[in-house]
Amino acid sequence: MASHASCRVLVIGSGGREHALAWKLARDGADVLVAPGNAGTAEVAENLPISPGDIPALVAAAQERQVDLTVVGPEAPLVAGIVDAFTAAGLRIFGPTRRAAQLEGSKIFCKQILHRGDVPTAMFREFRSAVAAHRYLEEREDTPVVVKADGLAAGKGVFVCPDREAALAAVATLADDPQFAAAAGGILVEERLDGVEVSVMAITDGRTIVTLPPLQDHKAAHDGDRGPNTGGMGAYCPTPFVGADLLADIEARILVPTVHAMRRSKVAFHGVLYAGLMLTPQGPKVLEFNARFGDPECQVLMALLDSSLLELLDAATDRRLETVSPPSWRSGAGVAVVMASEGYPGPAETGCPIRGLAAASALEDVTVFQAATRREGDTIVTTGGRVLAVTAVDSSLGRAKLRAYTGVREIRFAGGWCRKDIADKGLNQERAMLAAEAAAAAPAEPAAPEAAG
Ligand code: AMP
Ligand code: GLY
Repeated sequence: MASHASCRVLVIGSGGREHALAWKLARDGADVLVAPGNAGTAEVAENLPISPGDIPALVAAAQERQVDLTVVGPEAPLVAGIVDAFTAAGLRIFGPTRRAAQLEGSKIFCKQILHRGDVPTAMFREFRSAVAAHRYLEEREDTPVVVKADGLAAGKGVFVCPDREAALAAVATLADDPQFAAAAGGILVEERLDGVEVSVMAITDGRTIVTLPPLQDHKAAHDGDRGPNTGGMGAYCPTPFVGADLLADIEARILVPTVHAMRRSKVAFHGVLYAGLMLTPQGPKVLEFNARFGDPECQVLMALLDSSLLELLDAATDRRLETVSPPSWRSGAGVAVVMASEGYPGPAETGCPIRGLAAASALEDVTVFQAATRREGDTIVTTGGRVLAVTAVDSSLGRAKLRAYTGVREIRFAGGWCRKDIADKGLNQERAMLAAEAAAAAPAEPAAPEAAG
C-alpha cells in the first residue's frame, strides 16, 4: 500500500469492538466504512446498512467503494467464510479463512490442533451423541467437569458442572434444547480447571506473531463474578496476573505452537488469535481460542495502542508482519466498563434515550465506545443488551478504574447498569504482589515479644 492516508478500510460488525477498531483506524489516517455499525461508528466512519451475514452484499460494497482492506469484528462471518469470499473476489481482508476459523467454530477441531501442537489444555473426551456422553458420565468418577457443545453457541453452550448430576443435566439440555441443535452435533466433557482466567491476543500472518498485552475480562453479569454468563461486562489491561516472564511463556508454549500446528495442518491461521487461558497451579492452559478480537478487550487495547493499528493489520494481511516494528503502548493501564440495558443478558429493554455521552467523552483520556446504539434525530437510543463501554487510560490501574467510573457516572439511560468492580481482581493482585515484595525485602526481625496481659 502506497500511503495510509489514502487507505480505505471496511470494518464489519456493529459492536463496541468495531467502534474501537473504526476509531483507531480513523486516527491512523484511514478512510473508514463500517457495515452495519452503530451511532458511535457513524461519528468516526461512514456506516453502510449491510448485515455481517450478507457476504455477497459486503463483497459488492467493497468492490464498489474500492476498499483497500477489510477487517472483520465478529466470529460468525469468519466461520461462514467471509475471508474466502473476499479473497476469491481479489479483495484484501484481515482474518482467518472458514477452515482456520474452526479454531473458534469447533471446540473439537480446537482440541485436535492443541493436541498436535502439544499445547496445554484441559483433558477431555468427545462424544457424537448425548447418549454416549451420558453413559460416560455415569461410569466415570464423580468429579467437577465442564460440558460443552462443539459448535458456536454465542457463549451459551458451556456448562461448568460441580458434579455428575449437574453434568448429566447439561448433557440433557444440549440434547433437548432446540437452540443447541446446530452446536451440539458433538459434545465435549472436559476436566474443570481451577485458577485465574486471563485473555491473551496475538496478531498473526500465519508465521510471525505479535503478542498484545494481557487482559482480564469479566464474563459474569454481577459484582464478585456472580450471576449469569455474558459477552463480557468489562476488561482491563495489562493484568498483573501475567508478568513479562509468564507472557513470554504463553507466547512460546501456547501461541507459537498453535500457529505452527495450524500451518502444519494446512490451515494457516491469519488474523487475531485470542487465547482464553486458565492460570492453573500447573501453568497456563487453554480454555478456548477465538478467531477475532475480544469484546470488550478490544476497546481497552485500542485505547492503549499508541502506534498504528492500520500498519499492523496491513502487514499481517500481506504476510509480512516480520517487517513492522513492534507496536508501542501508552504507559499505565486501561479499563473498560460496559453499561448494559435492563434485562441483559436475558431479553433487554431497548429504545431508551442515552444522556451524558458528550459529557463523558469530554473527560480527558475517556472514550465511550458504543455498541447497541442508534441515532434517532438528536438523540442516541439503546438497541440491545451491551450498550456501550466507557474506556479510560491513566498512569496506574487504580487511576484508570477511577477515571472510567467517572465517565460512567455521566451517562444515564432508563434501566442502565454496570458492574462496579471492574479491575478489582487486578488491583487486589497488585496489592498482594507489593506486600509480598515488601515482606521479601524487609530485614528479618526477631519475633515481637508476646503482649503482656
Ligand atoms: P469457553 O467458551 O470454552 O471459553 O467457556 C466459557 C467459560 O466457561 C470460560 O470463560 C470459563 O470461565 C469456563 N470454562 C470453560 N472451560 C472450562 C474448564 N475446563 N474449566 C473451568 N472453566 C471452564
Ligand atoms: N470478551 C470475550 C469475548 O470476546 O469472547
